[in-house]
Amino acid sequence: MEGASSASIRWALLCTLLCLSLSLSHCNVTYDGRSLIIDGHRRILFSGSIHYPRSTPQMWEGLVRKAKDGGLDVIDTYVFWNVHEPSPGNYNFEGRYDVVRFIKTVRDAGMYVHLRIGPYICGEWNFGGFPVWLKFVPGISFRTDNEPFKLAMKKFTQKIVQMMKVEHLFQSQGGPIILSQIENEYEPVKKIFGEAGKAYMNWVANIAVGMGTGVPWVMCKEDDAPDPVINTCNGFYCDYFSPNKPYKPTMWTEAWTGWFTDFGGPLYKRPVEDLAFSVARFIQKGGSFVNYYMYHGGTNFGRTAGGPFIITSYDYDAPIDEYGLIRQPKYGHLKDLHSAMKLCERALLNANPVVEPLGNYEQAHVFSSTSGGCAAFLSNYRTNSNVRVTFRNRHYDLPPWSISILPDCVNEAFNTAKVRVGTMEFQFLPLKTGLKPWESFNEGVSFVEEDSKISVAGLLEQLNMTRDATDYLWYTTSVDISPSESFGGRSPLLRVQSAGHAMHVFINGQLSGSAFGTREKRRFNFAGNINLRVGTNRISLLSVAVGLQNQGSHFESWSTGIAGPVTLEGLDRGTRDLSWQKWSYKVGLKGEYMNLHLPDSSQSGSWMHESSIMQKQQPLTWYKTYFDAPEEDEPLALDMGSMGKGQVWINGQSIGRYWTALAKGECGGCSYSGTYRPVRCQSRCGHPTQQWYHVPRSWLKPTDNLLVVFEEIGGDALRISLMKRSVSAA
Ligand code: GAL
Repeated sequence: MEGASSASIRWALLCTLLCLSLSLSHCNVTYDGRSLIIDGHRRILFSGSIHYPRSTPQMWEGLVRKAKDGGLDVIDTYVFWNVHEPSPGNYNFEGRYDVVRFIKTVRDAGMYVHLRIGPYICGEWNFGGFPVWLKFVPGISFRTDNEPFKLAMKKFTQKIVQMMKVEHLFQSQGGPIILSQIENEYEPVKKIFGEAGKAYMNWVANIAVGMGTGVPWVMCKEDDAPDPVINTCNGFYCDYFSPNKPYKPTMWTEAWTGWFTDFGGPLYKRPVEDLAFSVARFIQKGGSFVNYYMYHGGTNFGRTAGGPFIITSYDYDAPIDEYGLIRQPKYGHLKDLHSAMKLCERALLNANPVVEPLGNYEQAHVFSSTSGGCAAFLSNYRTNSNVRVTFRNRHYDLPPWSISILPDCVNEAFNTAKVRVGTMEFQFLPLKTGLKPWESFNEGVSFVEEDSKISVAGLLEQLNMTRDATDYLWYTTSVDISPSESFGGRSPLLRVQSAGHAMHVFINGQLSGSAFGTREKRRFNFAGNINLRVGTNRISLLSVAVGLQNQGSHFESWSTGIAGPVTLEGLDRGTRDLSWQKWSYKVGLKGEYMNLHLPDSSQSGSWMHESSIMQKQQPLTWYKTYFDAPEEDEPLALDMGSMGKGQVWINGQSIGRYWTALAKGECGGCSYSGTYRPVRCQSRCGHPTQQWYHVPRSWLKPTDNLLVVFEEIGGDALRISLMKRSVSAA
């Protein structure tokens, strides 16, 4: 073997001998400076992230099959601590959370698994995957050298490793898991944690390795990952990346296929030409493992979206769309890339690349050896001009920003910018089956005034009150106005400062305004003139969480809710600070206590019939209707374009938060945005960021499916419609 160091040759030999002395199917996975070594063989592996709670178990097999047909070898998933341990010591591995079933589905398809246990995951997932109860463990400080945190994190990690061992799911036991991840993206927060952060990193590596899984551990984006843990790259491009030791393979555990978005943001698309170019660049520099993040993004069902403000769809512009449909040309072009790469695999694994300049911005990377044959990658790094290059006396035309792959050093099998797959477009189409007549239920504000249990002087932090069992917390106070008060002829100005994320202001039970933060700036100020009357006035502020922070240092200490001050300006006696007067609190909504979203809700008598909702678009209203499952078999979605903001349930299961906030951005055209920034295109500007919401087929029964909507601001429920997602050639 040419070009590899003698240390790595020894390591590979050792593994091969070990493999032969054990049975082949019970072989440890090892690595050397070139790649992972499975069953004694070096491998170039393509992997894709599919997160099991972001789809339904009924979708898993189809998704995994499509991934395999797309040329992937590995499925990668995080483990989502907060859905598995909703309260300390109480575990849930049922339904969408059945991680063992998911891994077995991948195994049965003949693929490998990369299990990213974390348990900090980021992932645009609520609280970065941490259960909210963890924040309330006395003395806790997340992701640093802190005993209460380390205890809880180790316990959960061990629990997951143990579950996998019991089911024989590690490759060392004959199972599909070839790789595991501990922690995630520590590099960006490391400086803040200083020495304690370093101690934590060493501890994390030790406990992981000590769990004896028989497969390597990685840390994604942690430059100082202690041996033998492999540090890996994430980003839009990773060809600049090298692991921290020469005897570790070059792995890209998150190649971003698109991007997530927030309510009010545009949708981001990453052209497949740019993605394929970045992958080819990585492989030609010696990379041997690429995981597409995401390969199927899916849906943030329920209140699992993080943020704040991450939308319910986690489509990500991935090769398989949110609904499980193949996205062309992204899927097909990557499949072609994988086929071309597989033709080069022997050459890639048996030689180090020799770089030959072909021009100022053009290069050839040549992998040549007697044992592996020859493969070449010809690259044009110019962003806007075609070039004709000469390589070994032959001419090759390279489009801008592209790489041609020559598996035999002669014939071009693939060029990253020459897409041979046709474009398909998705659309939502109406269905024959409609929704039955609607009923409504007024949530109202009165409940708070009558029922409030907690009254204290001052403003309380939202999560301390809700423990994230609900998005909603009512803050209510009163203001007395004497008959002599004239406000100088104007309405007084109410000012409220909130730590996030959204708020609706009700004065004497009437909606008087709303205010929202953004993902960049979750804190916001409300200022609005309000109508007060002589006597006692109720000021009720409904503070709404829209997904908890999923990244940043010490995010456990970030506050949510009305932080204050709350002031009234324009009263005859000057500005009045309401922050320290008596406030009453109510956690959650009346409808939540009544379980209005459940099919067997006992309160069915209090719903009003359709005629009443046709007249007014009331805030704080629950709507319900029924529908029969459509006969067609395309995926389904609800068009919520006529509504404002709230949540939707089907047969008692939450399909997520909806919000028709209009997208701001720079739409039109796709642009190359600079070194190591991707080519990106934005869409939906001026339209709701998310108008359609996935209704999983498996949640439906043949007839009388219950659809419940809770609307915060006011919308037209009669115009909600069920649609099918279909694909057509562009
Ligand atoms: C990464 C992180 C992922 C996800 C991604 C953006 O840095 O590891 O979990 O948040 O960014 O989608």
